Amino acid sequence: MALQLKTFDEYKTAYQRSVEDPEGFWADIASTFHWDKKWDKVLEWEFKTPDVKWFSGGQTNITYNCLDRHLATRGDQTAILFEPNDTEGEVRKLTYRELYHEVCRTANALKSMGVEKGDRVCFYMPMVPELAIGVLACARIGAVHSVVFAGFSASSLADRINDSACKVVICSDFNRRGAKNIPVKKVVDEALALGCPSIEKVLVHRNTGDPLNWNKEKDVWWHEALYDQATTCEPAVMDAEDMLFILYTSGSTGKPKGVVHTVGGYMVFAMYSFLNVFQYKEGEIYWCTADVGWITGHSYIVYGPLLAGATSLMFEGVPTYPDAGRFWQVCEKHKVNIFYTAPTAIRALMAAGDRWTEGYDLSSLRVLGTVGEPINAEAWHWYNEKIGKKKCPIVDTWWQTETGGILISPLAGLTPLKPTYATLPLPGVQPCLVDADGHELEGDGVEGMLCIKFPWPSIIRTTYGDHERCRQTYFSTFKNMYFTGDGARRDESGMYRIIGRVDDVINVSGHRIGTAEVENAINEHEAVVESAVVGYPHDIKGQGIYAYVITDRPVGDLVVFEKELRNTVTRIIGPIAKPDVIQVVTGLPKTRSGKIMRRILRKVAAGDTENLGDTSTLLNPEVVDEIKEGAKGVVA
Ligand code: WT7
Repeated sequence: MALQLKTFDEYKTAYQRSVEDPEGFWADIASTFHWDKKWDKVLEWEFKTPDVKWFSGGQTNITYNCLDRHLATRGDQTAILFEPNDTEGEVRKLTYRELYHEVCRTANALKSMGVEKGDRVCFYMPMVPELAIGVLACARIGAVHSVVFAGFSASSLADRINDSACKVVICSDFNRRGAKNIPVKKVVDEALALGCPSIEKVLVHRNTGDPLNWNKEKDVWWHEALYDQATTCEPAVMDAEDMLFILYTSGSTGKPKGVVHTVGGYMVFAMYSFLNVFQYKEGEIYWCTADVGWITGHSYIVYGPLLAGATSLMFEGVPTYPDAGRFWQVCEKHKVNIFYTAPTAIRALMAAGDRWTEGYDLSSLRVLGTVGEPINAEAWHWYNEKIGKKKCPIVDTWWQTETGGILISPLAGLTPLKPTYATLPLPGVQPCLVDADGHELEGDGVEGMLCIKFPWPSIIRTTYGDHERCRQTYFSTFKNMYFTGDGARRDESGMYRIIGRVDDVINVSGHRIGTAEVENAINEHEAVVESAVVGYPHDIKGQGIYAYVITDRPVGDLVVFEKELRNTVTRIIGPIAKPDVIQVVTGLPKTRSGKIMRRILRKVAAGDTENLGDTSTLLNPEVVDEIKEGAKGVVA
């Protein structure tokens, strides 16, 4: 694997070249892929509009690179290793050849249902191999996949389907998660009942086989649609800048936006980052515990590993079922070499007690990774000692849905580690820190807002159907820079530590939640006049959701009211956005221009009522004391 850097010096050389000669650098990497037609130009870009094109004029199909390309050399090697929710359930192993044929059959089935190149297909599925197969089948025929995490509500699903006018939605009948059996197809039915005029068909994968409602007009069984389909399917020839997928993510304002990634650049960066961050070696078992409903699953369960010819373990279940030893039991069972998870899972398992880690043979582990939120020092050390036995480098990978792949991270075993630091940028990535006025902070030992100065191949291209929103959100805050929304620190040796979001986004268990979205949901409750939602430090989740609520009537039984509010949020967004703490207030601290002073609300939520700063300029300073007083009485 020539793409893999092998030493710290090689990293430094590659990094330098990527800055001095980015086109030459990425052209060399891209040349190791199969292209039907070579690109005319490696990179054209400007960050004003923005307009970024990588490998334009080039043509390829990402599934050819994930599948066909491997058949001669590793057709019989396991591509997807499936570990079911139940410890007694059936482990499935799909070799590269089997996966290739399944993807082709599914692609043919989609075609026979009328799905064409450019059409959008929505997925609402549990973590079963059919999700990966379906996603790849879309890419095979040039259809655009939009995976919606199966924990979102029917109304969130409907919003996402409608925003990109999906033609087909693919789901499972039910979803096994721990001891639960969640009716997935039912949520799709509810979403369609809310109105999804673009949906022509619902393709249903039989997962548990439990009885369900069936709509003869629209519903099609996966196994029936695939029956008799040819096991080969010509890959659609895609332009490098054709859309590959849409993935919805939350921001500080408005509804979630559809982040758009395109074929060529995403492909090149997914594989390059996978190989270098994890230092994957031929034959190893790699396990990323994320859900394919998030970007981590797209880039580092499906595309990155398959492009690299790896064996990617896909897990249907949860970390605590049947008990808090499940992750380590699976690591032992499948002799996992590389394990990649979220800090929230580490903290939850750490809190469950060390005894759950004991008695498992974890000697196969070679590299550990984390993603999604800052990892605190205590969790880092626990992971290093109890799981890695101090022998496994921990790669703390910083990136975002919008970046498509990992931008700042150690390269396992090559570059230095520092607990709680994402450390150094990958080759091709040019981070910088800026102050509130947009001035770049030079030198080391500084703290500011994290921006990226130069395009990398998997940078967001647009937000679906609303390019102006993309410009506004990421490219307008600071001139000629991509703004990440994160604050960060650069230490004396040039290593980056991510501090957290500087906008109105909360990171709950590694899930991104927009405060405005939660407020809108809370405001749907008939007694609520206004609300303000902020994040606060939470031992397990990283951040919890704290909601200040103004009502127009006495709420009566507080327990009942809080339950109603949480149900409202669950119904409108999904259980992941449920407030942890609810405080009923009579007013919210506002500036004279009517803006909520969130700074004060954040401090009170964090239990820090001493240093609220200057509150004299508020329109209603008296409300601060009431809020402080009221906060003492609320319960998480
Ligand atoms: C936000 C992006 C990238 C896949 C999962 C989340 C936070 C992500 C780290 C990390 C500190 C991190 C940032 C970022 N984040 N990784 N290693 N250390 N914070 O993707 O939902 O798009 O969220 O997650 O705040 O902006 P996402």
